[in-house]
Amino acid sequence: MDKHRMVLSLLVLAASFGLYDALLCNCTNADCEKQGYQCQTDGACMASTSVIEGVEQRVRACIPRDQLVPPGQPFYCLSAEGYLNTHCCYSDYCNSMDLQVHPVTAWPPLSYTEGWGPVEVAAAVAGPVFLLCVVLLLARFLFQHHQRAYGHRHRLDVEDPSTEHLYLAKDKTLQDLIYDLSTSGSGSGLPLFVQRTVARTIVLQEIIGKGRFGEVWRGRWRGGDVAVKIFSSREERSWFREAEIYQTIMLRHENILGFIAADNKDNGTWTQLWLVSDYHEYGSLFDFLNRYSVTIEGMIKLALSAASGLAHLHMEILGTQGKPGIAHRDLKSKNILVKKNGTCAIADLGLAVRHESITDTIDIAPNQRVGTKRYMAPEVLDETINMRHFDSFKCADIYALGLVYWEIARRCNEGGIHEEYQLPYYDLVPSDPSIEDMRKVVCDQRLRPNIPNWWQSYEALRVMGKIMRECWYANGAARLTALRIKKTLAQLSIEEDVKI
Ligand SMILES: *[C@@H]1O[C@H](CO)[C@@H](O)[C@H](O)[C@H]1NC(C)=O
Repeated sequence: MDKHRMVLSLLVLAASFGLYDALLCNCTNADCEKQGYQCQTDGACMASTSVIEGVEQRVRACIPRDQLVPPGQPFYCLSAEGYLNTHCCYSDYCNSMDLQVHPVTAWPPLSYTEGWGPVEVAAAVAGPVFLLCVVLLLARFLFQHHQRAYGHRHRLDVEDPSTEHLYLAKDKTLQDLIYDLSTSGSGSGLPLFVQRTVARTIVLQEIIGKGRFGEVWRGRWRGGDVAVKIFSSREERSWFREAEIYQTIMLRHENILGFIAADNKDNGTWTQLWLVSDYHEYGSLFDFLNRYSVTIEGMIKLALSAASGLAHLHMEILGTQGKPGIAHRDLKSKNILVKKNGTCAIADLGLAVRHESITDTIDIAPNQRVGTKRYMAPEVLDETINMRHFDSFKCADIYALGLVYWEIARRCNEGGIHEEYQLPYYDLVPSDPSIEDMRKVVCDQRLRPNIPNWWQSYEALRVMGKIMRECWYANGAARLTALRIKKTLAQLSIEEDVKI
């Protein structure tokens, strides 16, 4: 066949693959039984074989297109040497094959059966090589099509399992690992196979919290403490979403909780979903403020670092190693951690949304009212928020930041006076307020937390009070930006001689 025609027909083939929306796959899930153990998807077919503690398990499934993230190395399509061999493919029933788990040792060298002549050897080599070329060519077309189709602009480093030893040398501690990461410029996470290995060698110590998603534990890994958030299997989507957000390129920042690993341990009967992060012994800002009062210096440190974290989250960084703007959507004192040095780390990114500035879209369909009712901005409570406009979500975060500042400032013990810890609106709504309770107070009566007069006598408290008022405007667009707040507080910290 003429070479050009062959390329052309390959192209047509590739294009038609890309255009077919409904792909049929073999499926082992119980709920595929009715359809004769097959499923239909707009994404990929997946086959995987895992060996966990000596038990082998094979799974075949459909992976919807919107779960094929991050692009180029989807979560659900990755293998881990010694544990899991996964393969994603894009033609009907292509996941019918049986995969073996690769042993942790190096690949066995090629061996030929004795008695083969040079012709057989040549054929044995040339055949697969030709096939491989065809497959690679196809894969390339498909990949490019895929890239165009989704318009993804984030470049993710392709994993190379041969670099695992660089990360997991025996004597490395977590700090070393994180240091390697931050200097290797590879974005915001350990390669996934390293994440798995880390997660599977953590020893859980004690439970430190419970939430709607599951539990938080303190764990030990190579002599260091880590926090492990364990999601119940029903919360798989939350686990996935939070892991996805934490692995946004360039997210790493000293005032955002440091993400270490995500892992889904499937033991055959249930799936354990883990999210591993830095551990901070003071716990949340809520716990901290309940227990301690703060000095002016302590207050400025907490406030400035929280603003720095939020400013980094909100900021869009352009370029190939760029970062999309991210809005948190559930900012509150319970979702901010206090580090040993008295600064904040913003955590719980599970409800966050990312902004795709090229297409000016938001990366998931945001539902109207998520987050904690007490901290909801007026426009969220009365549903007037413009969800097509990404900045609306940032403005709602700023409102919540203002409430957190009020919680901090009340605990400032300057001049011997300080108030007991209280949640915002403690005096105006019941302890588990409904949206209606909040809406009446915040939207109808336009009430806000009280800013005491005596704050005016101390410059730092006066500035904090002024910032709060400008975070609480009913009109979201009129509120300060995180960057503005950060600059104002940085200036204040110089005037007050705060050592950060
Ligand atoms: C995959 O599905 C096809 C079509 O239903 C079927 O013929 C084949 O046996 C299945 N393969 C496996 C391994 O289940």
